[in-house]
This record gives sequence, C-alpha cells and structure tokens, in this order.
Amino acid sequence: MLELTDDLRIGHPVIDADHQRLIEIINEFLEHSNEVNPQILHETLKSLLAYGREHFAREEGIQRQCLYPYQQGHSNEHKSLLDQVREIARAYFVAKTKPLNATSVQDVNELLKAWLIGHVKKFDTSMRDWVAPSLDMDAPRIKLASPDLAALIISPNERSRARLADLLSELGASKVLQAEDSITGLGMAFGDPVPDFIFCDLETEPLDGGAFAGALRGSNKAYITRIPLLLLHDAEDAEAIQNAMAAGASGVYPKSFNPTNLGRLLNQLLLR
Ligand SMILES: [Fe+2]
Ligand SMILES: [Fe+2]
Repeated sequence: MLELTDDLRIGHPVIDADHQRLIEIINEFLEHSNEVNPQILHETLKSLLAYGREHFAREEGIQRQCLYPYQQGHSNEHKSLLDQVREIARAYFVAKTKPLNATSVQDVNELLKAWLIGHVKKFDTSMRDWVAPSLDMDAPRIKLASPDLAALIISPNERSRARLADLLSELGASKVLQAEDSITGLGMAFGDPVPDFIFCDLETEPLDGGAFAGALRGSNKAYITRIPLLLLHDAEDAEAIQNAMAAGASGVYPKSFNPTNLGRLLNQLLLR
C-alpha cells in the first residue's frame, strides 16, 4: 500500500491533499491485487486520468501563482504521465495487445506505484521550497542581487503597472520604466538603459505577449534576445500560455501572483 510519507509531502495543503487522493485511488486498486478484475482496472485508470488531469492543472496553477521557474518541464512531465495511463488503458481495453491475467495485474500494480511516487519524488518535491514559503505572507523577501538593475513593465493597465513598479522598487530595482503599449515597450527594450528584465501583459496591444516575446527573441542583438521576459495574464488560457512559452517567454504568471518569490526568481533568471 502507498502512503503519503513526510518525504513525499510538499507542504502545500492543496497539493498534498490531491496527492493523498491519488494515492487512495491506487490503493483501492492494490487492495484487489490478487484478483483479475477488468472492471476494477478500468475504473482505476478512468479515475486516475480524471483526477490526475484535474490535479495537474491545479498544481500548475499553484506553480504559476508562486512564480515557480520550471513550469514548462514540469508540465511536459504531467502530459507524459497522462499519456502513460492512456497507453495502459489502450493496451488492455482498446487494442487488447496485453492479456489481463495475474501477472499483468502485478505489472500494473508496480507501474501505478512507480507512476505517482516516482513523479512526486523526482519532480513535485523540487517545487517544495517555492510553493511552501509562499503560504507565509510575512516571509522575508529576497532582494535583487545587484543594486543597479532596470526593469521595464508593459501593460495597458495603469494599476497593475503601479503595483509591479512598487514591488520591484521594494526589491531594490534602481529604475522602473513603464510603457502602455507593446510597440512603445519594444522601443524601450532597445533603448537606454537596456532593461535587465521585462514584464509584459499577455493581453497587451498591438502585439500581444506571445508576439512581443517573438519580436524580442528574434532580435539580431544577442543581449536583447537574452533579457528575461515574464508575461502576466488576467485569465488562465492554457493555449495562450503554451504559445507564449513556445515564443520564448521566460515564464507566464498570473497578475495576482504571490510576490514572496519574486526576488528569488529574478535573481535566478539573471544568472541564466
Ligand atoms: Fe507534478
Ligand atoms: Fe503532483
């Protein structure tokens, strides 16, 4: 039987509760490990797919909220986990390339145990020190590593520009440039001072965040293509987020992000 032991806990109540539920689904199956029961296997795979999909979306949302920097790789892992479950279901129930017998039930047992625990151990525990401290709003904030950094914020929304500008000044940014639209912002990116990092609204105009990322990364000046670019969104749009990451954004985060890790994230991006 699987158990959510301390070394598997992430320290975020929503994520830990989700993992507990996934463990229960697998344990319910393991309880019947001496039977060859196609219906139980079918139900288990169905529940894992449904709850897994929900959990992965929730976990990725929390990662964005906490400014976790490795969201893209993690999200690819989630996709591959869902594919693995789909593949088992296909092999036993659709293509029927595998016979359902005592040996194959044992194989599925082992596979499902490794499926969840392997991912939690290798990937989920690495977000522990990003998502757990963000629950403590009074946690001390990490300042920017260099005292002489310039930021550029591009957003049509004056209030969100102001909020971010305040945050960045608090972290020690020496200059915070602002632009209302992405064409003015693009001009500023090539201007003086060259910004050390750029925040851009995903819904900015006339170029949206993804197109802005493409323009920045496509520049013939190498130092411009390397500027960390963080895109911020109001509403979660999985496709727009994927497109922006593919266009070269360093990360896509909700505007309501938790600021606890902002300094740590920026310091890390500047080192890349
Ligand atoms: Fe995960
Ligand atoms: Fe997880």
